[in-house]
Amino acid sequence: MKRIALLGATGSIGRQALEIVQEHPELELVAAASGSTPIDGLAQLTQVGGDLTELLDRAEPDVVLNAVVGFAGLPATLWALERGVDLALANKESLVSGGDLAVAAWREGGGRLLPVDSEHSAAFQLLDGRPPETVDSLVLTASGGPFRGHSRADLAEVTSAEALAHPTWSMGPKITVDSATLMNKGLELIEAHFLFGLPYERIEVVVHPTSVVHALVRFRDGASLAHLGYPDMRVPISYALTYPERAETSIEPLDFAAGLILEFRAPDLDAFPCLALARAAGDAGDTAPCVLNAANEVAVAAFLDGELPFLGIPDVVERTLGQVDCPPARDLADLTAIDAEARRIASALTRELVH
Ligand SMILES: NC(=O)c1ccc[n+]([C@@H]2O[C@H](COP(=O)([O-])OP(=O)(O)OC[C@H]3O[C@@H](n4cnc5c(N)ncnc54)[C@H](OP(=O)(O)O)[C@@H]3O)[C@@H](O)[C@H]2O)c1
Repeated sequence: MKRIALLGATGSIGRQALEIVQEHPELELVAAASGSTPIDGLAQLTQVGGDLTELLDRAEPDVVLNAVVGFAGLPATLWALERGVDLALANKESLVSGGDLAVAAWREGGGRLLPVDSEHSAAFQLLDGRPPETVDSLVLTASGGPFRGHSRADLAEVTSAEALAHPTWSMGPKITVDSATLMNKGLELIEAHFLFGLPYERIEVVVHPTSVVHALVRFRDGASLAHLGYPDMRVPISYALTYPERAETSIEPLDFAAGLILEFRAPDLDAFPCLALARAAGDAGDTAPCVLNAANEVAVAAFLDGELPFLGIPDVVERTLGQVDCPPARDLADLTAIDAEARRIASALTRELVH
């Protein structure tokens, strides 16, 4: 029996995780948390808002599935990694913001870090046990979002309703907007760097409109391996929760005779500068990814509220990165202070841009 704590139980990942837990009698939901939506009776222990680490202390889970959205998930990520409790990680923002601390805690704690992001779950499976020196590079695929093929000029007037109409994945609002700006792929680039210990120059992003190939690994002998599947988050959620068994799911296997289109092309960094901003923040290191993430969270919320135009998102992120110092963080308190400062500056820049 595996005792699961599900954080972010009311979200898109959380609801799909509940389906997986219900299908597997060997998975027991011992704790569930949400931000503000009531969840009485969902698990033995439930919590709405508040300090997630207190819930985890009480629940003593074998696996934490962190499906909270945003920086708010960071304390729970560190809680699991420090204690060597297996962490099934959907909350990419915690690894982006606190990558150095998280990797140190992971080494110290010695537990498993199982990615739930579909591209990283794919890469984890492709890299499985292979010596790092045999790997040439990792390729992450991006659907390109609803605005694939748009020029920068086309993007000036797009609305949040248009941004929320993702062509291949059904997800929460924040990640759907991140997919439309390609910031999601930028966050995933940083996430992959910390998960797999690969330098940024050996992680590439390509646009692949059908989202059937989730990731590829090129090896030093010229061979590449790819991970394929229909875009359905229940597959990586199930893989992480039932690892290493790879339990059965009800999801359709790929139909290769139905005309699969495997097309890849380079992303348009002029129309979608968030990807380049994330790569630059990753290269800069220290707390630049934390500042990038905080500014993005503020700008995306303002876009969803109809205050900031779509192209204001990269603008706010770039300007915030130009105005906030990004020193190394010694602990969670340092990161929390830098996150707060970046949010303060990003909010002020957002108000400036709007008026
Ligand atoms: N959706 C996907 O397909 C997908 C794919 C890959 C990765 N991810 C990642 O998975 C994470 C969740 O994404 P999502 O699409 O599931 O988001 P979502 O639908 O917006 O759900 C977010 C969840 O987080 C909870 N939450 C927010 N703030 C919280 C807090 N302070 N304390 C406790 N819970 C809090 C929300 O609770 P309330 O309902 O009460 O607000 C909700 O349950 C994100 O990091 C995203 O990048 C998602």
